[in-house]
Amino acid sequence: MFEKIRRRLLLSYLIVLSLIWGGFAIAVRIVFTHSLYKQQIQKLAALAQVAAANAELDNGVMKIENDLPQDKLFENHQELSWFDRQGNFIKRQGKDLINTIDKHRLQSVTLPIISSDDKQLIGYVRASQSLEELDKTLNKLDLGLGGGIIVALMISGAGGVWLTRQAMQPIEESFERLKQFTADASHELRSPLMAIKTNAAVALKYPEGMRKADAEKFQAISSATNQMIRLTEDLLFLARCDNIPDQSKETIDLSLILNNLVDLYQPQAVVKHINFKSQLSEKLYVLGDANQLTRLFSNVIQNAMNYTPSKGTIEIMANRGNFHIVVNIQDTGVGIAPEDLEKIFERFWRADKSRSYNSDGFGLGLAIAQAIAQNHGGVITVTSQLGVGSCFTVRLPLTTNF
Ligand SMILES: Nc1ncnc2c1ncn2[C@@H]1O[C@H](COP(=O)(O)OP(=O)(O)O)[C@@H](O)[C@H]1O
Ligand SMILES: [Mg+2]
Repeated sequence: MFEKIRRRLLLSYLIVLSLIWGGFAIAVRIVFTHSLYKQQIQKLAALAQVAAANAELDNGVMKIENDLPQDKLFENHQELSWFDRQGNFIKRQGKDLINTIDKHRLQSVTLPIISSDDKQLIGYVRASQSLEELDKTLNKLDLGLGGGIIVALMISGAGGVWLTRQAMQPIEESFERLKQFTADASHELRSPLMAIKTNAAVALKYPEGMRKADAEKFQAISSATNQMIRLTEDLLFLARCDNIPDQSKETIDLSLILNNLVDLYQPQAVVKHINFKSQLSEKLYVLGDANQLTRLFSNVIQNAMNYTPSKGTIEIMANRGNFHIVVNIQDTGVGIAPEDLEKIFERFWRADKSRSYNSDGFGLGLAIAQAIAQNHGGVITVTSQLGVGSCFTVRLPLTTNF
């Protein structure tokens, strides 16, 4: 039970952390890309300004002084182009990017060239640079961020395992203490209850010497004590049934257990005018504890008897699947409301608190049945319709080692 909670806690923790790390990485990527683009544009603008200062109008013809370092332009994947006032190409320095690279992979800044003497427009200069270098830097950043996040998540995962273990420890301990308390209290209650039961039985042995009213009171004491003994036994069982010791696990033919239970409950069905049928396959082998499995099915069958009015039908079907044994206990009883279906396996939960259905249970029967099914690696589920009936399905792993 705690393992499942721990796993869920760890998963939520990792999801939240991934979202935080992911958001952080996206933010870093956006800010970094933006500043890289801005930096490159600023560099190109500065380059274009220098290039513009290099151009002069000489007798109506644009002349470009050649003092820009060519190799630096090549190294930086840059191109400088000059144009006259009409936009006609005049000269290029550096790489020929415009004609060789897709224009989307290029960044350009165009500046007007103004004559220093008469402040007239003499042409334009365009500085361009391919985005190749920038893409390489961004790829490196992506790799760094991705790798960093994976490492961070792995470290956080390990930390998360430790954290969830730390967080769950006090809960597990207090649950264990609670279970121990229930077990101890039930155990301690046994002896005084037995004493009351025996004394009531002795007193009732000779009712002749007793007033009728007293005899009735002793009867009431005796029946209440019986109920309390059953309650303490159920509580003790629930507190202790978490795991079956390996030595009490054996290969059991479930069809024999179910057949015995059918025989056991047949007289009750006859008295209640219930049609009690069974369809059981043979050789339904499971590995487990015979007493516990008998208890599981008798709890479910007893419920079917309790909550099915006379002239109803109860049918038990057991079949072998590839990996599981499936037992269905179907009744035409009062049914369970859809909103109650998930509550019926809770301890002390009963749909009918007034016990008008003649059941003297405490609402522990199905909790015990579920605990036993889970102890055996199986599950118990239910489908039901109010006023139509219910079908309890027990699925247990099939064993082949016999
Ligand atoms: N076959 C059934 N048909 C209708 N209601 C059922 C059936 N089995 C169980 N229930 C409902 O589930 C509740 C819990 O069952 P259980 O744990 O066996 O407790 P109890 O039988 O002691 O009341 C019952 O009180 C009843 O309301
Ligand atoms: Mg019951």
